[in-house]
Amino acid sequence: RIAYVNGAFVPLEEASISILDRGFLFADGIYEVSAVLDGKLVDNEAHLARLQRSVGEIALELPETLARIEEIQKELVARNRLASGMVYMQVTRGAADRDFAFPRGVKPTLVMFTQEKDIVNAPAAKTGIAVKTVPDIRWARRDIKSVALLAQVLAKQAAAEAGCQEAWMIEDGVVTEGGSSSAFILTAGDVLVTRPNSNAILPGCTRKAVMALAEERQIRVEERTFSIDEALAAKEAFITSASSFVQPVVTIDGRPVADGRPGPVATRLREIYIDFAR
Ligand code: PDD
Repeated sequence: RIAYVNGAFVPLEEASISILDRGFLFADGIYEVSAVLDGKLVDNEAHLARLQRSVGEIALELPETLARIEEIQKELVARNRLASGMVYMQVTRGAADRDFAFPRGVKPTLVMFTQEKDIVNAPAAKTGIAVKTVPDIRWARRDIKSVALLAQVLAKQAAAEAGCQEAWMIEDGVVTEGGSSSAFILTAGDVLVTRPNSNAILPGCTRKAVMALAEERQIRVEERTFSIDEALAAKEAFITSASSFVQPVVTIDGRPVADGRPGPVATRLREIYIDFAR
C-alpha cells in the first residue's frame, strides 16, 4: 500500500512522522474519512468543506489548498488501485518541542492512507447491527472532527465486548450519536428523526445527504433529540457514516427495535444512498 506523507507518496511501511508531532503528543489535529466506491470519492466536497471548517475552529492552516488535497486523495486511490473503501486523511499542527501553546513557524503535518472495505456488500446491511449504549463522556466541541478519539475508542471497545457493532452515546437521557456514526430512528408516524447539528455532535456528511435524499422522496424528517425508550418503540433505527453508508440497527442493549429485523425504510435509504454514491 502507498501512503502520502507531507508531499511524498511512500510505501505504507516506510511512512513515518516525528514522535514530537502534536497530533501524537496532544491530539492537536483534525481528520476526515471519505468513502471510495468504484474507484471514485463519495460526496467528497462535503468532507473537504468539513475539513476546512474543523481546521478553522482550531486555528490550524491547511498546508495545501482543498483542490490540491483532492488531487492527492485521487492520486492515492489510483496508486493503490482502490475500488472500494476509504481514504483517511489527517492534518496536525506539526512537530515541535513539547509546549501546549501553538509553536511558531512550524509546518502542519498532512498524511493520508487508504483502506479497502466492501461497504456495499457489508453483511451488516442485511442482518442489521447491534448497538450498546454508553454514557457520552466526550468534550464540548464534538462538531470538530478532532483526532482526540479516546472516548469513542472506549465506547466502541465496550460495544465490541458486548458483541455489538456500534455504541450509541447517551447524554441527559437522549442519544447524541454513534461512536463513529450518526443515529436515526423512524417513528410510528413514519417520520425520520435525528438530532440537530450543534456542538454536541459531528455534522455527519452522510447524515446530511440521507436527510436530503429522504425529503426528495417525500419522507418527513424532523431534527430533534430522541431517547433509547423512543428508539425501542420506533418502527426502525439506523446509523449513517462514510464507512458504512446506512446500516439498520436491530437491537439496543440486547432489546429488539420493533421486530428486531432490518426495516424497509433503512434498507431503501441504503439503496438510494448507494445510487447517489455511484
Ligand atoms: N466517523 N459521528 C461521529 C462521532 C463520527 O466519527 C462520524 C464519522 C460520523 C458520521 O460522519 P460522516 O457521515 O461524515 O462519515 C458521525 C468516521 C467514518 C470515522 O471516524 O471513521
